[in-house]
Amino acid sequence: MGTDGFDKSPSGDVTADLLPDRLELSDGRVCECRALVEDDAEALLEFLPRMHGETDFVNYFPGEFDWTVEQEREFLRKRMDNPLALSIAAEVDGRIIGLGGAAAPDFRRMQHHAEVGLAVLKEFWHLGIGRRIMELSIEWGRRVGLHKMYLRVYDYNTRARGMYRKLGFIEEAALREDIRRADGTFGNTIIMSLVYEES
Ligand SMILES: CC(C)(COP(=O)(O)OP(=O)(O)OC[C@H]1O[C@@H](n2cnc3c(N)ncnc32)[C@H](O)[C@@H]1OP(=O)(O)O)[C@@H](O)C(=O)NCCC(=O)NCCS
Repeated sequence: MGTDGFDKSPSGDVTADLLPDRLELSDGRVCECRALVEDDAEALLEFLPRMHGETDFVNYFPGEFDWTVEQEREFLRKRMDNPLALSIAAEVDGRIIGLGGAAAPDFRRMQHHAEVGLAVLKEFWHLGIGRRIMELSIEWGRRVGLHKMYLRVYDYNTRARGMYRKLGFIEEAALREDIRRADGTFGNTIIMSLVYEES
C-alpha cells in the first residue's frame, strides 16, 4: 500500500484476474473482452474511423482520425506500460467490435481516480456489451484501489447517461458549450462520477 492510501502495484495482476471475460449474447453469439495488445494496432485503425463515423457522441469527427499503425502501436505500448491503466478489446467472432478502459492521470495528486471511456460498433448495440465493459472497468478500479472513477459524456447522449446512472455514476458537473456537434451547434459535456465508498 502506498503512503497516500492505495495499492500502487501494477494493474497487470488485477487485469489478468478479470480478463478474458466471456459474455453470451442474446443472439447466441459470444463476446469476449480481453486486454488490448500492441498487435491490435491495425485492427484499431479499422475500428476507430468506423466508430467515429457512426455517432455524434465521440471526440473525433468522422474522418478526423489519421494515426498511422506506428503511432497506434506507440500509444498501445505506453498504455500497457502504465500501471494505472486498463484497456479492453471486445471481440465477436474474432473481430474487435468494442473498446473500453480507464486510466489514471500522471500526477500522483490525482492518481486516486481514473477516467473511463468506451464505444461499441452500432450493429452491436443493445446486446449488453457496453454494460459489461463498464462493469469490468469499474471492478478493475475497485481492485487496484481507486477512490473514484469518472467520465465525460455529451449531454445529448441520453442512452449512455442512462446506462452510467444505472451503474451508480452521478452527474457532478457540466462544462457548458464544450463541444461542437456535427450540425454546428454546441453541446455541454457532463462529468459523471462514482465514488467507491459510496457505492
Ligand atoms: C453507449 C454505448 C457504449 C452503449 O453500449 P451498448 O452495448 O449498446 O449498451 P448495453 O446493450 O450494454 O446497454 C446499456 C444499458 O443502458 C440502458 N439504457 C439504454 N438506454 C437507456 C436510457 N435512455 N435510460 C436508461 N438506461 C438506458 C440499457 O437498458 C442497458 O441497461 P440494462 O443492461 O440494464 O438493460 C454505445 O451506445 C456506444 O458505443 N455509443 C457510441 C459511443 C458512445 O456514446 N460512447 C460513450 C461516450 S461517453
